Amino acid sequence: MAEPLLSVRDAEQAAAGLLPRDVRDFVAGGSEAEVTLAANRAALDAVFLTPRVLAGITACDPGTMLVGCRSAQPVAVAPMSYQRLIHPEGEIGLARAAREAGIPLTLSMMSSCLLEEVAAVGGTLWLQLYLLRDRGQVADLIQRAEAAGCRALMLTVDVPRMGRRLRDMRNGFALPAGITAANLRDDTATMVGGTSAGSPGVAVHTNQVFEPSLSWADVSWLRERTRLPLVLKGILHPADAQHHRAARRLRGGERPV
Ligand SMILES: Cc1cc2nc3c(=O)[nH]c(=O)nc-3n(C[C@H](O)[C@H](O)[C@H](O)COP(=O)(O)O)c2cc1C
Repeated sequence: MAEPLLSVRDAEQAAAGLLPRDVRDFVAGGSEAEVTLAANRAALDAVFLTPRVLAGITACDPGTMLVGCRSAQPVAVAPMSYQRLIHPEGEIGLARAAREAGIPLTLSMMSSCLLEEVAAVGGTLWLQLYLLRDRGQVADLIQRAEAAGCRALMLTVDVPRMGRRLRDMRNGFALPAGITAANLRDDTATMVGGTSAGSPGVAVHTNQVFEPSLSWADVSWLRERTRLPLVLKGILHPADAQHHRAARRLRGGERPV
């Protein structure tokens, strides 16, 4: 009988026995020497909560509001591309799990399932966007997100270019046939998926599709195109957060994460 999955680590170990090596590396790998990946892990491991004792509480409710949405816990699922690499149900299965857990799911722009089909699962859905050179496609996707009932948009601002992912380069990683960025136009999906011959397809072609000169003007451009709350994903420098806060005071709406 299979071991029960009692923790994230259990799930990770079980998946390691099922997934092909290149997919495992795509999920687990970081950029270059993976120094930041290790530092992030260490930083998270260094966080401890200091409990207040003798509080006389019998029932705890970790529920809260996130970006105007009720969540059963103070977390949401981060955007992760191409989930059908990992499980045939892909983002639809992930949406079901998020709905059951009562937490928002951020659907990646590079989702391998259709946005409308993921939205049909129910639960709270946010949509993550990269800024593409082809602004028209971004604008179309925003309209589809609003029509499908997405509750927030999240612009990833720390990937003007894809990092050099050495594991993917060594594995010659490219998406298998049948798995694509299902919500992008076919020619764009082919470019970002690296399905053309040779590697490292994913990073090289993605750099031709993403807007490398991403700036605050693009945040304003996006803001003008939606009534949804806009979250900026990837702000690290305090000055950027302050810039953002000042802009937000003027216009209202975006939040740094
Ligand atoms: C397999 C995989 C795919 C990802 N795809 C995206 C994506 O499409 N868009 C995005 O903004 N971030 C993407 N990320 C980054 C995550 O959203 C997140 O920022 C990152 O994994 C750091 O969080 P963690 O330390 O909890 O893993 C991806 C991460 C992984 C592991």
